[in-house]
Amino acid sequence: LLKTAAIAGASGVGLSTIGKFAGWAAAKPEPVILQTARIQAKLMDVGQTRNVLTYGNAGMPPVLRMKKGEPFAARLVNAIDDPTTIHWHGVRVPNKMDGVPFLVQPYVYTGDHFDYAFTPPDAGTFWYHPHCNTLTQMGHGLTGVIVVENPGDPKFDSEVVINLRDWRLGDDGQFIDQFRPRDAAKTGTYGTVRTANWQDQPQYDAPAGGLVRLRAAITDVTRIYAFRVEGAEAAVIALDGNPVPQRFAPDALLLGPGQRIELAIRMPDEEGAIVSLRDVRGTRPKVLATLRATGSSLKRDIRDLPPLEVNPVQEVDLTAARHISLALSATAENIPSDSICGSLGYSFWAINKVPWSGDTPDPTAPLAELKLGGSYVIDMENLTPQSHPMHLHGMSFKVLSSSTRQVQPMISDTYLMQPNEKVQLGFVADNPGDWLLHCHVIEHQKSGMTSYIRVV
Ligand code: C2O
Ligand code: CU
Repeated sequence: LLKTAAIAGASGVGLSTIGKFAGWAAAKPEPVILQTARIQAKLMDVGQTRNVLTYGNAGMPPVLRMKKGEPFAARLVNAIDDPTTIHWHGVRVPNKMDGVPFLVQPYVYTGDHFDYAFTPPDAGTFWYHPHCNTLTQMGHGLTGVIVVENPGDPKFDSEVVINLRDWRLGDDGQFIDQFRPRDAAKTGTYGTVRTANWQDQPQYDAPAGGLVRLRAAITDVTRIYAFRVEGAEAAVIALDGNPVPQRFAPDALLLGPGQRIELAIRMPDEEGAIVSLRDVRGTRPKVLATLRATGSSLKRDIRDLPPLEVNPVQEVDLTAARHISLALSATAENIPSDSICGSLGYSFWAINKVPWSGDTPDPTAPLAELKLGGSYVIDMENLTPQSHPMHLHGMSFKVLSSSTRQVQPMISDTYLMQPNEKVQLGFVADNPGDWLLHCHVIEHQKSGMTSYIRVV
C-alpha cells in the first residue's frame, strides 16, 4: 500500500469535520477544519524543531482532496498569534474566497475564523497557503497540497503526492533568519534543509510494472527545481493543474515556487527496484524521493494511458485580444514601507516601475482594468538577470510564445520567467474581481514584485 495514504491518514487527525453550519442547506459539504497551530516537528536528525507552523496538529498540513465540479468548504480557525488567511493557489475561486487580505477579505485574527466555500472547476494538482506574513508563515510550514479529482481520470495503480519544500534551520535544528536583504535582491534566500513531505528522501512502495501517478507541488518560498526521474520510464502528463498538450520526458524540467508537476511513471518489473525523483539543478543534484517496486509485475504500458481530460478554460480570442504590457524590473530605489502583513521594508523589485509589496491596506492602482468576458494577452518582459515564477490569481492563462524557448500551448497559473525572457500569456477575463499578479519567490513578492488586475 502507499505510504502517502498513511501520511494522509496521520495528518488527517487535524482534518476533523464539524457538524453542518447552522442554516446551511443539507446539500452543502461538511467543512474541513483547517486550524493553524504551532508545533514541534522532526525535520533534522538533531532533534525537534520548535515553532513549526501547520494546519491541524500532526505534522504536515493535510493533502486536501476535492472533486471537480463539487462544492468544497473549509473553515480556517486561527489559533496562532499572527493574522492569517488562506489562498487556494491555482484553483479558480470567486474573488471573495481568494484569501488576499485587504484586497478581498479581512485579516483572520487570532481566535477568529473564516469560512471558505467554492466549487473547483478544474481537476489537477493545486496547493494552499496563507497570504499574510507569508515569508514567515509559509517558511515555517503553512503550505499544503490540493488534489482535485476527476471521476473520468485514467486508472493508475497507485498515486503519490509530494509536497516539496525547504526549511531555513541552523545546525541545532532551529529556525534562523528567513530573510537576507542581499539575497532578496537577487535569487532569494535559500533554505538549509530540503524535504519531501517534511522528510529527507522518503520512500514509497508502488506495484512493480504498474503505473504511478506522481503529483508534486513546489511549495518552497525560493527554490527552483530541475526535475528528472531515474530508474523508470516517466512522462509529464500535467503541469500547474492542467494536462500538457504533448507528454514528454522530464529531462531537467525547470519549475519554480508555486508550480506543480504530474508524472506518469512506469515502475520497473523487478521487485525491489528503485526509482528516484531528482532535482538536478545546480552543482549538487538531490534525490527528492524514491519509489520501490513491490510484488510481481503488473506489466502495464505507459502508452496505454488515455489523455487526461482538458479543464474547462475558455479559449482566448487572439484576433480580438487587447494587450497588456508588463515589465519586471529591479529598482534602485528603496522606499521604506511599513511591515503590515509581512512586507519586508525594502523595494528591490517592481512591475511596470511600481514596487508594491502586496496585501497592504493601501493598494496601488490596478495594472489594468479588464472587461469581463474580454480576451487579453499579457506581454510580459523580464528585465532582470533573475528568474521569476509569476503567478496570476483567479484565472488560468495559455502560454502563447516565448522569446527564449519553445513552449507548448500550456494552460497554467504560474509561469517561470527566465532571465531576460519575453512571453505572451493569453486568457479570457471571465472571473470578476481584483486579482493579484506576483512573483512567487516570496522575498521578491514582498519587496515589490506584486501588483493586480481588475476585472469588471
Ligand atoms: Cu500561491 Cu498569491 O499565491
Ligand atoms: Cu521573482
